[in-house]
Amino acid sequence: MEKIILTGDRPTGKLHLGHYVGSLRRRVELQNSGRFDKIFVMIADAQALTDNADNPEKIRQNLIEVALDYLSVGIDPAKTTIFIQSQVPELCELAFYYMNLVTVSRVQRNPTVKTEIKMRNFEQSIPVGFFCYPVSQASDITAFKATTVPAGEDQAPMIELTREIVNRFNNIYGPTLVEPEILLPDNAVCQRLPGTDGKAKMSKSLGNCIYLSDTPKEVKKKVNSMYTDPEHLTIDSPGHIEGNCPFIYLDAFSNDGHFAKYLPDYANLQELKDHYTRGGVGDGTVKKLLINVLEEELAPIRERRRQYEQNIPAVYDILRQGSEAARAAAAATLDEVRAAMRINYFADSDLIASQAARYRS
Ligand code: TRP
Repeated sequence: MEKIILTGDRPTGKLHLGHYVGSLRRRVELQNSGRFDKIFVMIADAQALTDNADNPEKIRQNLIEVALDYLSVGIDPAKTTIFIQSQVPELCELAFYYMNLVTVSRVQRNPTVKTEIKMRNFEQSIPVGFFCYPVSQASDITAFKATTVPAGEDQAPMIELTREIVNRFNNIYGPTLVEPEILLPDNAVCQRLPGTDGKAKMSKSLGNCIYLSDTPKEVKKKVNSMYTDPEHLTIDSPGHIEGNCPFIYLDAFSNDGHFAKYLPDYANLQELKDHYTRGGVGDGTVKKLLINVLEEELAPIRERRRQYEQNIPAVYDILRQGSEAARAAAAATLDEVRAAMRINYFADSDLIASQAARYRS
């Protein structure tokens, strides 16, 4: 069986370091690993509209930001099909059929949907489209016969629901769809990178993000104001590593090579952590290292972004071509789905012949 990836993001904002360590960096690795036959990355504008119906302009503006972020981190349109969800209407048709295979109470139990309903104060007035987005997500995945969905843990309930829909469909209509598996980030730091305030996950509404498109000056400023250890008052006082932002970010971004280059007094992060814990390392030293480490990662991303920004029509062309290719793939699956469900009336000459025989006098 072919190995196929599908994953995506809602275009509700620019992508930040949390997205980068949680999924983007991994996608590029998977793309370049040669282990997959096809890779689809989707900008989920239709899903974003399920709770932004009154603000389509926000989605329209952020769509290009997300596309630029994808291209600048190294998602390569020659290897990965980048497409826009709304430009593949076949996905809606699939969702319409899948809705019959899922109960309302099943969706109500979805913990991610529950949290989102609370966050958006939707308790009294959930848009039907929003409520159904997990079902539509099953369409996104199965339309491409995806075997692998790289995503964060919050997406696990969606993949689980997708597997249930696939099983139900295949049981009723015969083997047609492929059961996907989730591919989670490989370590805890990457799973949940805290914001620069050290509190919650990075999120635009909390204003605690470092964006992939931030300038070196912005990155420096944000790192320098990061939350560290409030009890670490002087360089010599013992410090705590846990919950200390610059150290958490170093966990996610640094390697031994960085130490040789930027802080050769230490062989690796553990040595620096040990010294900090004992006392004798200032926060400034740690932050300066982090700024260097982040710059090394972000500079090429920024440079690639700048190049694409100079040619925005070409970026839309990439999205158009990707959407056309995605549409062809989804249409092929939809043909199989319609045939399995026996609603392919006009393509079924036996049906027409047998009905004709039944009525012939
Ligand atoms: N729900 C995902 C998010 O909030 C976006 C998404 C839509 C997605 N369809 C998908 C992710 C299919 C993986 C697979 O970011």
